[in-house]
Amino acid sequence: MKKLVSGIKPTGKLHLGNYLGAIKNWVALQNEYECYYFIADYHALTTEISAKELSQNTFDLVVDLLALGIDPSKVTFFKQSDVIGHTELGWVFNCLTPVSELQRMTQFKDKSGDQSANINAGLLTYPALQASDILLYKGEVVPVGEDQLQHLELTRIVARKFNNRYDDYFPKIEPIVSHAARVMSLNNPEKKMSKSLGDQSYIAIRETEDDVRKKIKKAISDKTGVENLLELYLYFGDKEKHQKMSEDAKLDKLMNSELKEALTKSILDFLKPIQEKIKNYEQNPDKVYKILADGAAKAQQTADKTLLEVKKIVGLKK
Ligand code: TRP
Repeated sequence: MKKLVSGIKPTGKLHLGNYLGAIKNWVALQNEYECYYFIADYHALTTEISAKELSQNTFDLVVDLLALGIDPSKVTFFKQSDVIGHTELGWVFNCLTPVSELQRMTQFKDKSGDQSANINAGLLTYPALQASDILLYKGEVVPVGEDQLQHLELTRIVARKFNNRYDDYFPKIEPIVSHAARVMSLNNPEKKMSKSLGDQSYIAIRETEDDVRKKIKKAISDKTGVENLLELYLYFGDKEKHQKMSEDAKLDKLMNSELKEALTKSILDFLKPIQEKIKNYEQNPDKVYKILADGAAKAQQTADKTLLEVKKIVGLKK
């Protein structure tokens, strides 16, 4: 089986856009690859985040991912900072990565604008750490959203530089871009569903029934808005009913209330069993910590092997 690596930052609540755009794909790929899935908590440190928020977000995200179907008996599931090697290999990569390449990254430029008072060095070298996340496990395939393709290109550059300077050691990576259509924001259907567009933009995995109802009721229902709601219904609802409502929409005879009620019900039906699993994990935090500890121990074995080989190749160890 080919090796697959992917990570997610614990920077906020997981929502339906994240689920459809990434996590659903993670779950589907668990059977096809040797998967390494991790919480990119070191990457989260590049943003403005308090210690309390970071640790709470991390725990919540782990629980959400388990509830959504990440199966630690099939994959290696861990927290980046629990494994020694990410930052070590990241340093070696820092020393191979041209600053000019890092400065051209769209995410660096965007984030430098968003947090202009905190353009830290980690924000700049972020992609070198990401390359390390992948290559520490000799990842070959990396499922990501489109916005991460540039970072994967940089991973290829770093691997090539390493291989040229030292030894042909790291594999060539291939991205897998999720084909789930982009889910748009409820309050702004021209833009991707996102926490940064405010509370009314998204439906969180942990959303209460009351808030799911309110948010969908308030969702924009102009032409683009209806298309987005129909798209969402396609993922959570009934195929035939979707077909029927889409035809009605084309003929301009679809009642918004009918669409919104059907969508609300389909989303609540999807979220209910997941929220029950979430509750269950929350009542057994030790179980969650054990899963993470086991995952880290498993990941560490591979990481140790790579790190030792890299140290020898580079001349840090005899
Ligand atoms: N940068 C990725 C994101 O923001 C998260 C990430 C960190 C990642 N390390 C990774 C994704 C390694 C894939 C592989 O979405």
